[in-house]
Amino acid sequence: MTIDVRPSEDAARFLATDQLVWFGEVGDADEEHLRLGLPLDQRFTVDLPDGPDDLHSGIYGVRPLEMSLPGRAVVPVAGLTWVGVHPDVRRRGVLGAMMTDHLERTREAGLALSALHASEPAIYGRFGYGNAAVQLQVHLGRGTTLTAPHLEDDVAGITTHLVDSNTPGATDRLRACFTDAAPDAPGTIVASADFFRLHGSESPAELRDKERRRFLFARRDGHDVGAVAFRREHAWNDGRPAGKVTAGLLCGGAAARLALLRRLVDLDLMATTRVEAFAPDDPVLAWAGGPRATGDIKTWDSTWMRVVDLAAAWPLRAYEDDCDVVVEVTDRHAPWNAGRWRLVASGGSATASRTDAPAEVRLDTAVLGAGYLGRNVVNLLRAGVVQEHRPGAYAELARALRTAREPEPSLGF
Ligand SMILES: CC(C)(COP(=O)(O)OP(=O)(O)OC[C@H]1O[C@@H](n2cnc3c(N)ncnc32)[C@H](O)[C@@H]1OP(=O)(O)O)[C@@H](O)C(=O)NCCC(=O)NCCS
Repeated sequence: MTIDVRPSEDAARFLATDQLVWFGEVGDADEEHLRLGLPLDQRFTVDLPDGPDDLHSGIYGVRPLEMSLPGRAVVPVAGLTWVGVHPDVRRRGVLGAMMTDHLERTREAGLALSALHASEPAIYGRFGYGNAAVQLQVHLGRGTTLTAPHLEDDVAGITTHLVDSNTPGATDRLRACFTDAAPDAPGTIVASADFFRLHGSESPAELRDKERRRFLFARRDGHDVGAVAFRREHAWNDGRPAGKVTAGLLCGGAAARLALLRRLVDLDLMATTRVEAFAPDDPVLAWAGGPRATGDIKTWDSTWMRVVDLAAAWPLRAYEDDCDVVVEVTDRHAPWNAGRWRLVASGGSATASRTDAPAEVRLDTAVLGAGYLGRNVVNLLRAGVVQEHRPGAYAELARALRTAREPEPSLGF
């Protein structure tokens, strides 16, 4: 049976389907979230003939995003989001149909890449997405010493300023910080002003018992050079203040991040700061004195990437190592990518061309997604995920994909 996927014609039904799937508290702010988050022409639906009458069988949406890549390019990316299938029709192929539709539409729109954050890690690999950026989370105690002797001169010129997230213009300032920081931090997402307004708007349900999110800006010479969003929670232990700070993605150069972190670990009435998302090689751990100098370090997947159009995607980014490898790609959901490619990177730039030469490496397209932002995927040969026919060919490819700096985790979308 073919499953039709069509553009949404009923915003209320789209939203109601999402609310059933995600079982959140429904409030007045939800329509605003939909309006801000998702352009009208980027909402898609499935209605199975024997599916629910009042709701869609499945929905998905696409946020138009831009993302920085290795080599400083900032390119358009389809941000897959709002994916949901009505519980009555799950495991009947609705998601599969929506994924095929998404990949075809993305390619037709001339975009080479799709990105997402996964609700569960087992869902998207089968559709050719690879986990391209990993994030760490740590707890830092109040007054944690952050040591960086060769940054001190830089940090000395930076001041920090606290702003409510709903202050007019605050989210535009945040967006400007991410835009400025993006080229130096591949994997950073930049999106519309509306997307950042969404990050500054929180519904009463999200806010219950919590402080409205605040932005901390780092400023030098009257200009914003970095930012982080955070909130505080009251806690008292035997009469002593034991509040908790939760901070999101830091953005800006190293000195700005250090100034922001030092401010966060020194907020009055707080005992710990949970820094929720930073790349595994971010200086945070080095500043704190290593993993054991922090509390409760955790890690999980951040951005998943999908190479939608291999020929277009391969030259978009830069490569720190050369390679010349014939790769046989399997791609069940984007068959135009499948087959043998000669992937060449030389002097930083690259070409991908079809070839009849024998395959030196065989891999699924998800492997190229996992390495696309620069993450080291060389271990996937040892892991038995890729197959090699010329010894050393896969290492050559993986070294070309890998960057000296780990990809930056991304804001939720
Ligand atoms: C996840 C979800 C979208 C799957 O939709 P679905 O229509 O049931 O999926 P399909 O029937 O098209 O399944 C496609 C394949 O993915 C697999 N799959 C689906 N959901 C999975 C999950 N949560 N974990 C592991 N595999 C999953 C199916 O087994 C199937 O595998 P196959 O190709 O080997 O047969 C749906 O369960 C849902 O809406 N969940 C709650 C919201 C959510 O998590 N959305 C994702 C947001 S990132």
